[in-house]
Amino acid sequence: MRSVALLMLSGAALFAGTPVNVTFYRDVLPILQERCQGCHRPGEVGPMALGVYDETRPWAKAIKQAVLLGKMPPWYADAPPGKFHNDPRLSQQEIAKLAAWADTGAPAGNPKDAPRPLTFLEGWSIDKPDAIFQATAYQIPATGTLEYTYFIVPTGFKEDRWIAQAEVRPGNRAVVHHANVYIREPGSNWLREYPMGKLFVPEERGERVGTGGSSSAGASVREQVIAGFSPGRPAKQVPDGYAMLIPAGSDLVFQLHYTTNGKPSTDVTRIGFVFAKQTPSKRVIRVQASNAGFVIPPGAEDYPVTGSAALGVDAELLNVYPHMHLRGKSMVLSAVYPTGEREEFLRVPHYDFNWQLVYALSQPRILPKGTLLKADATFDNSANNRTNPNPKATVRWGDQSWDEMMVGFFDLAIPVTTDPASVLRTQ
Ligand code: HEC
Repeated sequence: MRSVALLMLSGAALFAGTPVNVTFYRDVLPILQERCQGCHRPGEVGPMALGVYDETRPWAKAIKQAVLLGKMPPWYADAPPGKFHNDPRLSQQEIAKLAAWADTGAPAGNPKDAPRPLTFLEGWSIDKPDAIFQATAYQIPATGTLEYTYFIVPTGFKEDRWIAQAEVRPGNRAVVHHANVYIREPGSNWLREYPMGKLFVPEERGERVGTGGSSSAGASVREQVIAGFSPGRPAKQVPDGYAMLIPAGSDLVFQLHYTTNGKPSTDVTRIGFVFAKQTPSKRVIRVQASNAGFVIPPGAEDYPVTGSAALGVDAELLNVYPHMHLRGKSMVLSAVYPTGEREEFLRVPHYDFNWQLVYALSQPRILPKGTLLKADATFDNSANNRTNPNPKATVRWGDQSWDEMMVGFFDLAIPVTTDPASVLRTQ
C-alpha cells in the first residue's frame, strides 16, 4: 500500500490518461457523497464538512494529498478490493479525478450536473432509533488522567429485544477517548455492588472490567458489548435477518473513557437502538481472541504476542476487528480449522490506534466447531515508534493508552437457540 502510494506521487504519468475538465459538481461531489460525507459533515468525526462547493474548495490540495497517500478514507487492511464489504478505498480513476481537480484550480462547473444531495438523519448515523438511553452528564476537568468511568441504566425491557442497529454517540467528541456500552444480563453479577443511575469508578478493576482480559466464554457473553464509539468506527450493523439480543430485564453498562484537553467541559453520551422488524434467523455475538499476560520489554521493536480462543459450536464469521493501543504495530486475525488448515481473515500491517475500524467480510465464513480463532500481534516499544508514550517502559495490559491491550474481536452469527455461553470452549 505504502509503496504504491509513493509510486503514484512520483509520477502522475502513471495514470492511464489524466482526467480532463474535472468539475466539482459533476466529478468530485459524487465521490465525496459516496466515500467522505459519512464522516465529513456537521456533527461527525471529520474535522471539516465536504458538502457544498464553497466549503470544499479550500481543501482541494489537502484532499489530493490525503487520497494520494491513502490516508483518506481511513483503511488499514491489506486486502484485495471486495474482500470486505465496507472497504471504502477509492479506485485509481477516482483518485486521479480528485488530483486533477486540485491541479486545475478546483473549478465548480455547472450546478445542474450535481447529484442529488444525500439526506442524513441529524445526530445519528444509524436509522432513526426506536430507543435511546443516556448516561448522566460527566464534568471533564481541564487537566489530569481520568479512570474508566461507568454508568448503569436498566433497559426496562419486559421482553427480549432483537437489535438490528446500535450506535453510541458522545455528546462532546473532543474529550471522549472511547465509549462502550455493554449488555448486563439478569444473571450477571458484574458490577452489581454499584448503584444504578450514577457515574462511578470501580475500585478493584479486575479482568472483567474493561474490554476483558480473558477470553473465557462466561465473561464475554453475559456482558456483551453492544456498541462502542471511537473515531472512525462505523455504527455496528448486522446483515438483514440477523440481530443482536438484549434479553428481557437486562441493564446497559456505559464504560466511558475521557481525556482532558486543557479546558473543562461536559459530555453526555447516548446509545440508540433500532429494533429488528422480526425475529432474526441468527443471533450476532462478539467474541475475542486475546492475551492479557504479555510483558513488552523496553525498546522492543517487533514484540510478538498471540492469543486464541476455540469454538465450541459451529458459527458464521461476519466481522473482524483488531484492538491494541499506541504501541500496536501489526495484527493478523485467522482461524485454524479442525483439519489443521489455516485461513487468514485480516492482515493489518501498519496498525493505527486512532482508527478503531471494524472489517466486515463480504463473504461470511462458516467456522466449524473446534476451530481455533487466532490473533497474532506485534508491538513496537522502540523510540522509532512516533506514537510511543515511553520507550523505556516495560508494558503490560491496562486500560490507559500508555498501557497496552491485545484483542482480536470476531463477530459471529449463531442460531438463536444456541446458548452463547457454549460458543467458546474454556481453554
Ligand atoms: C471514517 C471517517 C472518515 C472518512 C470516511 C473520511 N474521513 Fe477525512 N478525516 C477524518 C478524520 C477524523 C480526520 C481528522 C484526523 C486525521 O487527519 O486523521 C480527517 C481528515 C481529513 C483531511 C485532513 C484535514 C487536515 O486537517 O489536513 C482531509 C483532506 C480529508 N480528511 C479528506 C477526506 C476525503 C477526501 C475523504 C473521502 C475520499 C475522507 N476524508 C473520508 C474522517 C474521515
